[in-house]
Amino acid sequence: MLRLLCFLVFTLTLSVSVHAQENAPTDRSATGGAQTLEDIMKRQQGLKLDNSFRSDVTGSPDRAAPTTDQLGTLGGASDPDLWRAYRFNSADITTQVRGHAAEVLIQDGGMRWLIFREGPLLTYGSWLMGGMTLLLVLFYLIRGRIKIDGEKTGRTILRFKSAERFAHWLLAGSFILLGITGLISLAGRKIIIPAFGHEAFSIIAIGSKWVHNNVSWAFILALVLIFVFWVVHNLPDRTDINWIIKGGGIFGGGHPPAKKFNAGQKLIFWSVIILGGSIAVSGVSLLFPFELPMFAATFETLNALGLPQLVGLGELNTNLAPHEEMQYAQLWHAIVSFVLMVIVIAHIYIGSVGMEGAYDAMGKGEVELQWAREHHSIWTAEVEEKEKKAGST
Ligand code: HEM
Repeated sequence: MLRLLCFLVFTLTLSVSVHAQENAPTDRSATGGAQTLEDIMKRQQGLKLDNSFRSDVTGSPDRAAPTTDQLGTLGGASDPDLWRAYRFNSADITTQVRGHAAEVLIQDGGMRWLIFREGPLLTYGSWLMGGMTLLLVLFYLIRGRIKIDGEKTGRTILRFKSAERFAHWLLAGSFILLGITGLISLAGRKIIIPAFGHEAFSIIAIGSKWVHNNVSWAFILALVLIFVFWVVHNLPDRTDINWIIKGGGIFGGGHPPAKKFNAGQKLIFWSVIILGGSIAVSGVSLLFPFELPMFAATFETLNALGLPQLVGLGELNTNLAPHEEMQYAQLWHAIVSFVLMVIVIAHIYIGSVGMEGAYDAMGKGEVELQWAREHHSIWTAEVEEKEKKAGST
């Protein structure tokens, strides 16, 4: 108990002192107002630093030496003032190249973005995908293939029409191509250059980029198609609660009743729609650089809802340089893609080697009646009822 108390007091003291350090006014008289060693140290510690002592000092005509004096300056801005104005994006810049992005000459966030992209993003992303693959191998070793429990009937029923299967395979094919080419863009420099050299990487990278940019439209089309085809069957209902409580019967315990899609499949569907939709939107923003910025507007909405403040992030910066918008779009696009790829790896497993009889649903469109009765009992009963009625008329 005493130890816990000491720990709490220690943590509290530490956080109060960090807070105090962040807010303590800095005496810059020794440097004539320029940054001090203390400022540099604070930045290195990742503490918040009020930069106004630099961003606000960008010169002023009022400070210009009078022209009546000998050797007076031509204006009120010195070279350092001007560089600060470039650095903090407040200089009034006119360029021959049109567009807001061309007016930003220095954007220091690029380095942070590059380091994160080449480091943690790639590392954690690979761990996520590797972790899920390992988990599935373990699951296969422990649980084995999920077999059809009852006697097979030798009869099949229609599960997906050809239009549905076309949409699914368009989605699957495009997603896999986008995943592979996206990973090449992200990790190619680290993996392909050391293994195959610059020449080979150049060809692979140019090809990947072309495929990635163009196949994206097929993915978007497929996303719209599967949404239209399947949204009605994926609305949550009461059967889902029971299915989730029973864990889908995955470790024994029978087959909880399910309609056309069970709760697990509904989760997959909504993940694909929401995450896939978000990947598509951020992808289109990347495809037309600086034309479709969306993060400042999103941050503004989040700030208004109070969400970032709620999780301790404070107000998010809504004054983003065009390049910063692109950096956020790239990170979001890649992070959400990793999450969806991990979910899809699990889906591919269960739709192929993981479950006897499942692949036929998308492969042939027809499934063994006994498989349907076990995994989608409510839906199968409805189909059988309809077939009976059709047969009797
Ligand atoms: C290439 C490997 C893939 C295989 C073998 C596969 C297999 C299947 C199968 C068998 C079904 C029907 C399940 C049933 O009858 O209940 C299905 C459904 C579905 N697939 Fe795939 N699929 C693959 C890739 C993908 C990809 C890449 C996506 C999305 C990016 C995707 C999204 C879906 C969705 C949303 C459904 C409906 C919900 C569900 O059954 O989970 N599939 N898939």
